[in-house]
Amino acid sequence: MKKFLRFTLNLGASLGASLCVAAVAVAEHSPQHQRHELMEAVGDAAKPLGGMLRGKMSFDADVVMKSLMTWQVSAEAFGDLFPEGSESGEGTEAAPEIWTDRAGFDAALAKFLEDTNTAIAAKPQTLEAAQPLIGAAFKNCKGCHDKYRIEDE
Ligand code: HEC
Repeated sequence: MKKFLRFTLNLGASLGASLCVAAVAVAEHSPQHQRHELMEAVGDAAKPLGGMLRGKMSFDADVVMKSLMTWQVSAEAFGDLFPEGSESGEGTEAAPEIWTDRAGFDAALAKFLEDTNTAIAAKPQTLEAAQPLIGAAFKNCKGCHDKYRIEDE
């Protein structure tokens, strides 16, 4: 919970007051709900990055950093949200493999955080510089979802 509160503060600082309030509200809820909200934030942050990589949006270094920092704080908090007893319920999409292969899941999460941190440290200022960094971090989404997420349809 301490870690999650730090996440709340970081997110509030980097993304503004409204999200902060949302994140505080989330902290009252179940782990299933909290991890759903976190991944929603990861998904929302991915949208402008995807748009830039596909040339559908003009490159904006500040937006890139904001999205990457959302990935960072989310990845740091995500691993704490899979306690025993939260394997099912509330429409969770978490796959049973998270509990049967916890080491593999932790490694997938650590790799995502590592690739994200590498991209943040590089502070890319051009699309050319950002592309390989963001591309590497993006690979982790599907890699983890294929093994550890059940799609609802
Ligand atoms: C280490 C594993 C892991 C990584 C990396 C990961 N995800 Fe997820 N993601 C999950 C799991 C597990 C769920 C299901 C969570 C639940 O329902 O409890 C999920 C759910 C989601 C959802 C659905 C949210 C919901 O519950 O409706 C979105 C959107 C999403 N992820 C986007 C992304 C994107 C975009 C990336 C990469 C930038 C990413 N994820 C990286 C594990 C991961």
